[in-house]
Amino acid sequence: MKTALSFDDVLLVPKKSAIKSRGDVILYSELKDKFFGLNLPIISSPMDTVTGKRMINSMKDQGGLGIAHRYCSVEEQVDMVSMQEPEKRAKSLDYSPRKVWSLEEPYIHRTTPGAAIGVTGDYLERAQELVKAGCNLLCVDVAHGHHVSVRDALKTLKTQFCDDVILIAGNVATAKGFKDLSKWGADAIRVGIGGGSICSTRLQTGHGVPTLQSIIDCAESGCDAKIIADGGIRNAGDIVKAFAAGADFVMLGSMLAGTDQSPGQMFSSQDGKKYKVYRGMASVEAQVDWRGHARSLEGISTTIPYKGCVKKVLKELEQNIRSGLSYSGAQILPDLYYKSKFIRQTQAGMKESFTHILSK
Ligand code: XMP
Repeated sequence: MKTALSFDDVLLVPKKSAIKSRGDVILYSELKDKFFGLNLPIISSPMDTVTGKRMINSMKDQGGLGIAHRYCSVEEQVDMVSMQEPEKRAKSLDYSPRKVWSLEEPYIHRTTPGAAIGVTGDYLERAQELVKAGCNLLCVDVAHGHHVSVRDALKTLKTQFCDDVILIAGNVATAKGFKDLSKWGADAIRVGIGGGSICSTRLQTGHGVPTLQSIIDCAESGCDAKIIADGGIRNAGDIVKAFAAGADFVMLGSMLAGTDQSPGQMFSSQDGKKYKVYRGMASVEAQVDWRGHARSLEGISTTIPYKGCVKKVLKELEQNIRSGLSYSGAQILPDLYYKSKFIRQTQAGMKESFTHILSK
């Protein structure tokens, strides 16, 4: 039986570095072709307590991407993506491309809002309205993405929009799932099943694969589709490990929930601490809200400490990810994949990795 590794099982070995400053590290990651990429390879999860109108705009301002959740009417979702400024094409002065261009050449960076759709019901009509509103990135958002209904939806969307729309699909946990979704037309694939902080899929169904192992397996599959590591990412260290394992982007839920820009009201507990709600989209609470009743329960609803402005959260993450690349001597993300070296750590090593002075 194969052993599956998760983020805490491994560490990256520090390497000789010639990176003089964190500012020299380039985090640009290509999503579809050389004309569409993100300066900050972080995507906010299409969940109703993570990504609405404000999160989409803030993610874009910081160089990342927000994907509007689909647990609302078509009109409400169209409104989320319509808040975007008109698409502009601009030469970036600060960053350079990866792979195809030399580091000196400026590249063209294009942005678009993203929006999630399902694979049943009104999904095609929803997709058409979203594209009409200027959204050129659709995310086929299904818990078990290695499924024939995802294949059929991708085929329909490709026929409808040709190459004008970037297609993200998922989630998958295996190289086989990754290859199939890539063959079915997905440009980028969400990788990770059951690892999310609010997921109970593994407990309720016995299925899943530790997210880091899924990334490793999909990166070795040799497919061109981009990898979006999704679920269970708790800190910048996990993000750096995900990139080193072969991810092109990370998708974050809990790390971006609880901010000013995530949907929902902030509230105070009796001791004056501030919180917001963060919930899995398969939790009872979320299901009752969006479809009136709950079916199979594979998520929980919880509260999360209030974190303030998401810009601050993203800036801090960006600095730490840049440091992470520099420890491996990597100036750009593909360098990290090729240069980095993982080692497994023991339980004692893991204990040492956490700030143990605080447990005194
Ligand atoms: P994090 O760890 O970033 O995970 O909070 C966010 C990801 O979790 C997935 N997701 C769910 N998975 N039941 C699940 O099994 C759920 O109710 C649920 N809601 C979200 C999703 O991939 C998200 O990006």
